Amino acid sequence: PQAPRLDHHALERYERIWLGVAVVMTVLLFVGVLSSLISGTYPRLSGQGGGHSMAVTKGRVDPANLAATPFARPGLVVDAAGQPVVNAQGTLDAYIVAGNFTFQPAVLRLPAGRPVTLHVTATDVAHGFQITGTNVNVELLPGHVATLTVTFRRSGEQHVICNEYCGLGHHNMITRFLVEP
Ligand code: CUA
Repeated sequence: PQAPRLDHHALERYERIWLGVAVVMTVLLFVGVLSSLISGTYPRLSGQGGGHSMAVTKGRVDPANLAATPFARPGLVVDAAGQPVVNAQGTLDAYIVAGNFTFQPAVLRLPAGRPVTLHVTATDVAHGFQITGTNVNVELLPGHVATLTVTFRRSGEQHVICNEYCGLGHHNMITRFLVEP
């Protein structure tokens, strides 16, 4: 009668081991799913930008009152002489507004090789902000400001598309970055 009892204990031990394995696998799966979600929210800039990791921070703004904010003048922040203004972080600032199936400005001129902090918001519904050829892919929500810093190493034209379905004009929602030497 001794041997079957040992076998029984051995089986229980196997069950516990497999239960442990199942728990570990489930946890790993969750971590994997979570990290893929996070990497979508905090994209890496590749291609022209170079591949360094880049955080997106979110601020708030009143979408009905953008006139009182820098979003009232979409585009690169320049001084009276038309020169880009360097902010306290040592980057340039550009403001972009998504709404009504368009991006403002329609064409954003940026200097190559200089870090530019993009501040992007939406006025009406959720839009996407994807710089094609890079991993920059941000969801825009009305009232939220997504802020991310990018550096375009090469001059040329870069397209930005809305990748979040926002209505009938969704597929026309494109803007251009003209990266200048
Ligand atoms: Cu905006 Cu799709």
